[in-house]
Amino acid sequence: PPPGWAIEADVVVVGSGVAGLTAALRCAAAGRRTVIVTKARLDDGSTRWAQGGIAAALGAGDSPEQHLADTLVAGAGLCDERAVRTLVTEGPAAVRRLIALGATFDTEPGGDLSLTREGGHHRRRIAHAGGDATGAEISRALLAAVRAAGIETVRHALALDLLKDADGRAAGVTLHVMGEGRHDGVGAVLAPAVVLATGGMGQVFSATTNPPVSTGDGVALALRAGAEVSDLEFVQFHPTVLYLGADAEGQQPLISEAVRGEGAHLVDAAGVRFLLGQHELAELAPRDIVAKAITRRMRELGTEHMYLDARHFGAAMWERRFPTILAACRTHGIDPVTDLVPVAPAAHYASGGVRTDLAGRTTVPGLYACGEVACTGVHGANRLASNSLLEGLVFAERIAAAVLGDAPVAGPPVPPPAAGQPSWLLPPEARGTVQRLMTAGAGVLRSAAGLAETAAALDALADGDDRKPAEPGADTWETANLRLVARVLVAVAQGRAETRGSHWREDHPGPDEASGRHHLVAALRPGAA
Ligand code: SIN
Repeated sequence: PPPGWAIEADVVVVGSGVAGLTAALRCAAAGRRTVIVTKARLDDGSTRWAQGGIAAALGAGDSPEQHLADTLVAGAGLCDERAVRTLVTEGPAAVRRLIALGATFDTEPGGDLSLTREGGHHRRRIAHAGGDATGAEISRALLAAVRAAGIETVRHALALDLLKDADGRAAGVTLHVMGEGRHDGVGAVLAPAVVLATGGMGQVFSATTNPPVSTGDGVALALRAGAEVSDLEFVQFHPTVLYLGADAEGQQPLISEAVRGEGAHLVDAAGVRFLLGQHELAELAPRDIVAKAITRRMRELGTEHMYLDARHFGAAMWERRFPTILAACRTHGIDPVTDLVPVAPAAHYASGGVRTDLAGRTTVPGLYACGEVACTGVHGANRLASNSLLEGLVFAERIAAAVLGDAPVAGPPVPPPAAGQPSWLLPPEARGTVQRLMTAGAGVLRSAAGLAETAAALDALADGDDRKPAEPGADTWETANLRLVARVLVAVAQGRAETRGSHWREDHPGPDEASGRHHLVAALRPGAA
């Protein structure tokens, strides 16, 4: 059906994490009618779950150049240096503006920001809040500012498709709103500037640190709108996720890298620190290296997890520095003050996404992307720890400037033919199938044979004879989005016959230095969803 209701605005921001809220605040402050739409509640996305912190060269003796160098090394030859330079030079001031807006970070007794380390950083440069609840504090402060600015929000609204005008420019988004007063059912926000800030796609895999809302909706919407995506093969697996059993599914508790930054060790069941001698930074090597080392050790020993040992922190330090993690472990019957903490890698972050320029413009005029959904080029093949909140902040400000400068004007929207009841919607039961297929065939360790099998099974899910018709609804759209982004991810992973950053090919164990330093850019053929 055509949209049953419409809101008119100058800018619609899809998503309410650090990137979306920052972009919306800037656009509204410049007098643009701004509407935020979000799929669940305003703080249900990944930002609230961020633990370790936000990286920026804020400490004495640190510099953007050193932050740049660490980011480029972690990115394994695929970062766009101009984008990284933008991130690290504009980062410190962006964090200070966040503090001025009301976010409270932890400080040392003298009043300086307390800074910690995480994997890949040669210096202490990670600012944190509430010990290990940095994202929750940032989310709180930004939401308070959004409320104070009176920005209109539409909650429980899944963005379906981009509306375009006759010239192919963005003209708004269609939404499926689940039971929210005057905006209910299928509607639209009509706006000539559409900012995607929908976060990641961790739910493509069975076990992830991402909340349930991270189903790749922004990448799927952008693909259907004809936008290019880049670097989707680089899914980062966080090395230390609390291991809750081989059958654990959905969102899993994260044990921040900052725990290792403060001196915790990774050990096997015999107590051996297996990262010593593998990298000069040992447990604080870049994330891909630590995740691979853990996976290799698990395979060698035939076990399903390794251990984090931080018993030497003692109760007082655990309570002060890592209260969230301490509580999560205790909920699951593990006391890190006295016990080893079982950990294993799980899907954590999409380093790739919708391809943008340095102002967040995608390849579709009027469509912008920011935060985890975007591929600005700052992460390359493997994001440096705690650069993601920073990317959301810095590039949201740049997007707002671009939106104001571009002053996009759209003609009347032409509804996309697929709006309403696309034939490719999938029943909610297919979600678990997608997740299991991806974990088995496109997870930490990949091979040509496993990827080919996964691709065929994902195709059968969409086109197979036993496919069941599905009614339009949030669940069926989300499941279709998951399958679509999974399928494109597998296609690009098949195309990268080398091991680089977080893309680990069992059948090509090394980097292809001759031809590996290129980006895999993908787009859907018109009409193919
Ligand atoms: C963590 O706290 O370990 C997560 C940091 C990140 O993903 O950048």
